[in-house]
Parts: sequence; C-alpha cells; structure tokens
Amino acid sequence: MFENITEKLKNLNFLQKKSQSFLGVDIGSSAIKVVQLKKEKGVAILETYGELSLGPAGGTEVGRSTNLSDKQISASLINLLEESRVNVSECGVCIPIRSALVFDMEIPKMTEDQLKKIIPIEARRYIPVPISEVILDWRIIPDDPLIDDEPDDIEKDNRPAINYNNYDKKDEKFKQGEKVKIFVVAIHKNAIERYQNIIKQAELSLNFLEIEIFSTIRSVIDHNISTVAMLDIGASVSKLYIVEYGVVKDSHIINKGSQDISLAISRALGISIKEAEEKKRAIDLENPASSDKEIADVMATNLKYIFIEANKVLKRYQSIYNKNIKELIFTGGGSVIKGLPAFTSKNLEINSQIADPFSKVRTPAFLDEVLKEIGPEFAVAVGLALRGLEDGNS
Ligand SMILES: Nc1ncnc2c1ncn2[C@@H]1O[C@H](COP(=O)(O)OP(=O)(O)OP(=O)(O)O)[C@@H](O)[C@H]1O
Ligand SMILES: [Mg+2]
Repeated sequence: MFENITEKLKNLNFLQKKSQSFLGVDIGSSAIKVVQLKKEKGVAILETYGELSLGPAGGTEVGRSTNLSDKQISASLINLLEESRVNVSECGVCIPIRSALVFDMEIPKMTEDQLKKIIPIEARRYIPVPISEVILDWRIIPDDPLIDDEPDDIEKDNRPAINYNNYDKKDEKFKQGEKVKIFVVAIHKNAIERYQNIIKQAELSLNFLEIEIFSTIRSVIDHNISTVAMLDIGASVSKLYIVEYGVVKDSHIINKGSQDISLAISRALGISIKEAEEKKRAIDLENPASSDKEIADVMATNLKYIFIEANKVLKRYQSIYNKNIKELIFTGGGSVIKGLPAFTSKNLEINSQIADPFSKVRTPAFLDEVLKEIGPEFAVAVGLALRGLEDGNS
C-alpha cells in the first residue's frame, strides 16, 4: 500500500513557548515541506515537520509537479500546518531558482557606497526585463576565501547579503584595474508578490524570502569544504550547484527529475503512474527483488542520464578553474531512493553523500532513522528555519 503522505507528518509538539520558534516553508513544485525549529541556549531544536504532496490538489498523482493557483497552494499549506501542528506564524519562505536570475559580474573595486550605486546599473546588462521589475540581492565573491575551521553552528550564514569583509575602510583607495567579482541574484517582483500573497492567505507572517540554494547551503554544507557540488533531484528537474567555501559559483538546471522516473516505469511496465511511483519508492536500486529487476533497470537508466549531465558540468568547471570538486551532495525527494549511495559510487567518478540536514538540529533519538532517510527532502525547509533562528526573528 502506498504510504499516505500525511502519515509522515509527525507531531513533536513538545514546545510550550512559541516565542523562540521559527518556521521554514518550502513550496516545491510537487510538495510543500515545513520545518519548525526553536533555539535554546544557542542550539536549534526540531519541534515539528511535515510534508504534503501537491499532486492530488492539482488532480494528478503524488510525486508529480503541479501548476496550482496561489489559492490552491495556500489552502494546501493551511492543511499542512494543521496536520503537522505548527504553532508559530513567523516564517521564511524559499523562492525557486527558476524564478530568479543568478549571475556573476566583475566590476572595478570601489567603496561600499559606490558599489551600492553601481551594481544596479551594471546588473542591467544581464537582466532581460526592466531593472524596476526586479529585486536585486548580491554579495562579493572573495578572491581568497578564509577557511573557517570553526565547527558549523547556526550562527553561520550564506544568504546573498551585502558583505564588505574585503573592504576594511569605507574610503579606501583601490589600485587602478583592480576588480571585484559580485554574485548577483535578481528576482522578479511578481514572484515575490506571489509568495507574499500565498503566505498571507495562510495567515503566516513572512519574515524573509530567500532563493532555495542559500537555504540548502546553510543546512547541508560545511563551510570549510573548499569546492563542493550539490544535486537537488526534484520532481520535474534536477538542480546542480557548485559552491566554494559556502559561496555559490555556478548553477545549472538538468531537465530530468524524479517524476520522469515514475513516468518511465509506468510506460515500460504498462502500469499506472501511481503504481509506478509506489514501486520507485519501495525498490532498493542496488538489491531489487528479481521480480523488480526491470523497474530497477528503468530507474538506473534515468538516474544515469542525470548523472551524465551533472558530470559534464562538474568536469567543465574543474577544467576551466583547475579546481578539484571534493564531493557531490544529494538533496531533494528524488535522492531518497533506496540504494542510491551504492549506485552512485558505481556510476559517478566523484565522491558523494546524501544530505542530512537534520544533523544540524537537535532531534529526538527515536526519529533519527526516519529523519536521516527523508532528510534530503527537507534540506530547504531546515535551512530556512535555521536562518530565522540566526536572525533572531523568532
Ligand atoms: N521515498 C522516496 N523515494 C523515491 N522518490 C521519492 C521519495 N519521496 C519523494 N520522491 C520523489 O521526489 C520528487 C519530489 O522531490 P522534492 O519534494 O524535492 O521536489 P520539489 O521540491 O517539489 O520539486 P522542485 O524543487 O523541483 O520544485 C517526486 O518526484 C517524488 O516522486
Ligand atoms: Mg524542491
């Protein structure tokens, strides 16, 4: 029997005080995920979490990406908040990378006041819509990032915020020809308004919006790792990011996601998509029962396609920048497949691991196993909630 997604919702409602809590809300194309954390003596503690598939609300199967109206999404979010007994309204929400334009630009070194003025002017060249229609966020990419040997804790931050660490003095004089690289994120105001609207309808209070990649970095990457890649296998697409010392260097979208695996199984075996989805979730890719061998083969073919595309990007990056990418970290629901680590080590040349975002959070021991398994799906929501605690917005 297919496990009802709502059965995954857990009530860890051991919180009495609401004031120290914060909610991360990840509205994905196929499912909404929420994570409520609280901070106690500097430690992030899991209070509750939950997930709701959007497929059924859009008249399609669980695991499929959807195109719901704002009203439908907020209605689903309200259900999820109730089911998972969320009891805080302060939240942070992610904006999908597809709603943002992300790029690097190089400009002469200058003071922070000058940068603030110049960046919106320079950014116009990269943005296909009038600058007045977007919100810009940016940070300086350090030439020589400092290696942070401190253990990771929730004080760390990766959001694209203005970071003047390279600029000791406001009125510093820079040598002629000296350049600085800026990482820029442009988000269309329509996208921002859309999320504001959804959150308002769900009667939550929106503290910040952030591009999903920054939430993921916060919850899964150790800052002292020089160069690392992340592969988020979602429903309709997979997103590949390359990150150096916590700074995003490159991002790519691969046009295949986990719903394509279910569709391929359904076609190959002549079974319904619902049944194919159940099989995909049940099968151990590396040790399938003999009756499931054909399904495992279909899954392997589709995963290999994603790996080949990812590998091309990683190879290109390594050769252009002459840098070694230390490892690939998997996130997203599509990487919850059983047997993926063993399959990956045979089919990808790079070391890999499955994201474990709940390891940054104190959780009840009885949930260790389940949180480790579903962790990749919650990387974004955990990262959002961690930022809320850092900001002291709770
Ligand atoms: N236990 C599981 N085993 C295998 N696949 C799973 C499992 N759980 C979820 N998936 C698959 O993961 C996909 C959804 O992943 P995820 O929730 O990360 O996507 P999303 O955030 O909605 O998508 P996107 O980020 O692209 O908007 C679905 O296609 C689903 O079939
Ligand atoms: Mg997602």
